[in-house]
Amino acid sequence: MTKVEFLDLPAQYQSIKPEIDAAMAAVVSTGGFVLGKTVADFEQSVAKYAGAKYGIGVNSGTDALYLSLKAAGVKPGDEVITTPFTFIATAEVVCWLNAKPVFADIRPDTLNLDPKKIEAAITPRTKAVIPVHLYGQAAEMDQIKALAQKHNLKIIEDCAQSLGASYRGRQTGSLGHLAAFSFYPTKNLGAYGDGGLVLTDDEALYNEVRMLRQHGQDKKYHHAKLGMNSRLDALQAAVLSVKLKYLDKWNQKRRELAARYTAAFSGLAGITPPVALDHNVHIYHQYTIRARDRGALEERLAKRGIPYAIHYPIALHLQPAFEFLNLKEGCLPEAELAAREVLSLPIYPEMSEEQQDAVIAAVKG
Ligand SMILES: Cc1ncc(COP(=O)(O)O)c(C=O)c1O
Repeated sequence: MTKVEFLDLPAQYQSIKPEIDAAMAAVVSTGGFVLGKTVADFEQSVAKYAGAKYGIGVNSGTDALYLSLKAAGVKPGDEVITTPFTFIATAEVVCWLNAKPVFADIRPDTLNLDPKKIEAAITPRTKAVIPVHLYGQAAEMDQIKALAQKHNLKIIEDCAQSLGASYRGRQTGSLGHLAAFSFYPTKNLGAYGDGGLVLTDDEALYNEVRMLRQHGQDKKYHHAKLGMNSRLDALQAAVLSVKLKYLDKWNQKRRELAARYTAAFSGLAGITPPVALDHNVHIYHQYTIRARDRGALEERLAKRGIPYAIHYPIALHLQPAFEFLNLKEGCLPEAELAAREVLSLPIYPEMSEEQQDAVIAAVKG
C-alpha cells in the first residue's frame, strides 16, 4: 500500500539540507541567537515579498495577532469582529485585551468572512476587524476595506495560512493596517519551532510593535511602555530565510496538486471541492473539501490508512472557552454547517502522483 503522510517535513528538509545546515551553523558560530542581523534581514525579505514596508519578527502567529491588536489601540470594552470559523488564536487574543470578539458568519463557498455579515455586526464600540485568509485564500478585502473606511475600523489580516496568496494581484499581508503571520512548522513557510511576524506600512505602528515585542523598550534598558518578550529567534529566521526562496515553487506545487484533486472530485456525489474565486491566487495551505456524510468519508480514509484533519470541528462560538459570550447553536449557521462537513486532505509539495492517487481512490471509495 502506498504510504501517504499528511505533511512530509523530513522530506522537505532533505531537499534543502545543505543550505539549512549551513544557515544554522552560521548563527551558532556567531552566537547571535536573538534578533540581530539574521532576524532583521528576514523581516525585510518578508516585507519585500509581501509588498509591505515594515516587518517585525515575533514569537508566534498568536503573538503577532495580539501585538497587532494592541498596537492598533484595541482597549478593554472594544469590540473586534472576526470569523467563528478559524483557529482559536484569532479570537483568543481579543480577550487578552479585555475586548470582546464579535463573530460574523462566513460565506458558504470560500468559508471566509461574509462582508454583509460584518456590516450587520458593527456597533459604536467596534474598533477593528480581523479577516482570516482561511486555508490560503484571501477574504473579500475590497468590501472589508470599504466598511473599515466608513466606520473607522482597523483591519488586522490574519495571514497565518496565507503567505504567498494574493487578492486582485496584491499579496495578503499588504491589504490592511497590520498583518499577522505564523511560521508554525506545518505552515507553507514553516520554522523549526514557533515563529511569527507582523507586517505594516505604517511607521508609527511599526515602532509600536517593535517596542512591545521587547518589554516596551525604546532605548536599551529604557521602557516607554509595558510590553512582553516576543522575539523571533535568529535560528528560526535563518531557516526561514532559506525556505522563503522556495516558497513560490512550493506554493505552485500545492496549486497543481489542488487542481488535480479538484478535477478528480468534480461531479462526485456528496463531495464539494474547495472554491477558489477568480480574483484570488489560493495557495492551499489546506485542501479542504466538504462532505455531506463526513462520517462515511472518514471511515473510507481510515480503512485505507489515509491521514486527514478537520479544520475545524467546532465553530468558535460553540467552544467551551467562549461560553461566556452566550452565543447559542444556530446563530451562525454557515460556520456551524461547515464545522460538520469540512475535511482536509493531505497536500504538500513533496507529494507524489502515486500518493495523491491513493488519496483520490479512498475518497471515491
Ligand atoms: C488562522 C490562524 N490564526 C492564528 C494562528 C496562530 O499561529 P501560531 O500557532 O503561530 O501561534 C494559526 C495557526 O496556528 C492559524 O491557523
